[in-house]
Amino acid sequence: TKGGYEHYMYKEINEQPGALRRTTQGRLNTHTGGVELDEFPPGTFSDVEQVHLIAMGTSHHAGMYAASLLNARGIPAYAFMSGEYSVVNPPVTENTLVVAVSQSGETADTLDAVRRARASGARTLAMTNVVGSSITRECDDEMLLRAGPEIGVAATKTFSSQVTALALLSERIAEDIEGTKSPDARNLMEALARLPGDVQEILDTSTAREIAIEYQDSDAYFFIGRGPAHPVALEGALKFKEISYEHAEGFAASELKHGPLALVTPITPVFAIFTGHEDEATLSNMKEVQARGAPVVAVTSERSTEVVEFADHVLTIPETHPEIAGILANVQLQLVAYHAAKLLERPIDKPRNLAKCVTVE
Ligand code: F6R
Repeated sequence: TKGGYEHYMYKEINEQPGALRRTTQGRLNTHTGGVELDEFPPGTFSDVEQVHLIAMGTSHHAGMYAASLLNARGIPAYAFMSGEYSVVNPPVTENTLVVAVSQSGETADTLDAVRRARASGARTLAMTNVVGSSITRECDDEMLLRAGPEIGVAATKTFSSQVTALALLSERIAEDIEGTKSPDARNLMEALARLPGDVQEILDTSTAREIAIEYQDSDAYFFIGRGPAHPVALEGALKFKEISYEHAEGFAASELKHGPLALVTPITPVFAIFTGHEDEATLSNMKEVQARGAPVVAVTSERSTEVVEFADHVLTIPETHPEIAGILANVQLQLVAYHAAKLLERPIDKPRNLAKCVTVE
């Protein structure tokens, strides 16, 4: 049941602290800075040479996020939409680890991509939220999200759990390949352990509803970010468009000048996401859109005084490890999308033309 909430989506947004606690439960050790995955003991991934992350929609954004975490650790990693993966057929070897990210574990495009990867000799790992799903059955290994059932068509808590589980998995993979923990592992594990509390703080204090009211008559909504904040920008836009039916687009902040800037006007608010990845450059993108009259909502911890000073509005996130700040920024954007759709009286849990689980290609 909706347990007193008007929509499953809002209930599931609010369930994130508990979901994240379960996702990390028994899987990290803040004293040693170690990842402890029962399913993947140390050494499991020693032979891996490259990682392919295959997924669709929100799960693809989590895959892109994980590719950036792995790349930051020096591991070759690439994220693909599974529907494209099957067509492009990037070469794999037996030392390629293909991670299929799927909340439902039933998405047809992802299932098809897994089958092809397996047939080419890759090692396959399913990351899903559903025990015994089709994708799980086709893969060599599995890692469960434990986010609890998600009923709203728009994926919310499962994205947060996916990125968190992928951060743990990435640490295991990197440690195995490099034969040593990253010097930063303990900080990352501590930040992951604090994540449920940080998300709760956002849920308790967010001003997303005021932002949604302020900009409800806009022409379009744009989202920009760099590094791991790029998939968060794409996810912010996806959530916004699917439940509000308004035009929303996400871009890499670096992409702006190469075309999208032509769309920017005083009635296209821009959400700029700051996670500590070349924030200076994103700050100058923010000033560029403001020079075209667009209002900017910065999603940032208040560490960067210049961002806070120049932004028209700020959605604050608690200060944390830069590699997981995007999870927090995304929670603010989930809330903006929810409140915007609610003001427009959209059927939030069942947007038109969409299904929770896409079992045809
Ligand atoms: C967006 C959304 C979809 C799914 C996509 C993949 O809110 O829910 O984009 O993320 O259809 O679904 P799964 O993760 O079940 O493979």
